[in-house]
Amino acid sequence: MTATHSTELDQFATDVLAGLSARPKHLSSKYFYDDEGSRLFQEIMKLPEYYLTGCELEIFERQADDIFKAFVNGSNAFDLIELGAGDGTKTAVLISHFLARDADISYSPIDISQEALDALTTKFATEFPALRMDAKQGDYFHILKSLKNSRGLRKVLMFLGSNIGNFSRDQSVEFFCHLREVMNPNDLLFIGFDLEKDPHVIANAYDDAAGVTAAFNLNLLARINRELGADFDLDKFVHYANYRPIEGSARSYLISREKQEVHVAALKRNFQFEQWEAVFMEISQKYTIRMIEDLAADSGFAIKRNFFDGRNYYCDSLWQLV
Ligand SMILES: C[S@@+](CC[C@H](N)C(=O)[O-])C[C@H]1O[C@@H](n2cnc3c(N)ncnc32)[C@H](O)[C@@H]1O
Repeated sequence: MTATHSTELDQFATDVLAGLSARPKHLSSKYFYDDEGSRLFQEIMKLPEYYLTGCELEIFERQADDIFKAFVNGSNAFDLIELGAGDGTKTAVLISHFLARDADISYSPIDISQEALDALTTKFATEFPALRMDAKQGDYFHILKSLKNSRGLRKVLMFLGSNIGNFSRDQSVEFFCHLREVMNPNDLLFIGFDLEKDPHVIANAYDDAAGVTAAFNLNLLARINRELGADFDLDKFVHYANYRPIEGSARSYLISREKQEVHVAALKRNFQFEQWEAVFMEISQKYTIRMIEDLAADSGFAIKRNFFDGRNYYCDSLWQLV
């Protein structure tokens, strides 16, 4: 085991201990993405209920040239850095267009999941053999510092797929302030926001009929079993998701079907669950344009341009430093 892996495992154990000892119990959604979690998320993106992927894809397919014009700055050269890149399917649409416009670009995908990065690297190496790529595996909070030094060209940081929705408002401002520290005055930040819409549409996206989202959530318990030697019985938990229209947030939980005790060997601890006790798993925040404007202002950015899909379900917002 490498030092990095053992540090990551220690952090995982520390976070699981804190989350399962808290009231209400919670687990961090960043741990969803082990190899199986990444595979399940790729399935989620193909589900009919999970409209987010289709919306962002539509924006990229229809407005790639406007996005390109907004990214370039005099010359056609810039560095693309993607935080939480996943399998990069949507980004490939942009890169394909940029290369067709003779852009001189490099691409640095960053992801905590090696499985996702491997899928991306294989796909991109075949599709874009001439593209300069520098994939980095790890937590983007840790890798951020290394982004400070680049080719001296404009950097465009991308945070797509409504990743930002998994952060609380305070965490979002803190995250964007960290990004600001590694950005030069000319750099840009491109963020995918899921917008408020019919609550039924949102609720279904986090509770699909085929049960893939349920499997994705339950997989985190399987990961704790495997990596921390726990004995969670997955059949004794049920996935539950809802949407709160006042707060504009979808939330997902795993609910204990019965009173039970779970042992986590790596923590040398037992954890008690009451019947119907909920473990909070993930928040997926939805936004209004006003919320996006306020978030940009509070984080030291101004909106350069917003790109919407045809139904106004989703917004890719391009920010510059103020
Ligand atoms: C919701 S998916 C979005 C993937 C891609 N951006 C898209 O739009 O399809 C979130 C991605 O971020 C990665 N991720 C989550 N937390 C992370 C972290 N703290 N550091 C690095 N990557 C992270 C996951 O592995 C996953 O691939």
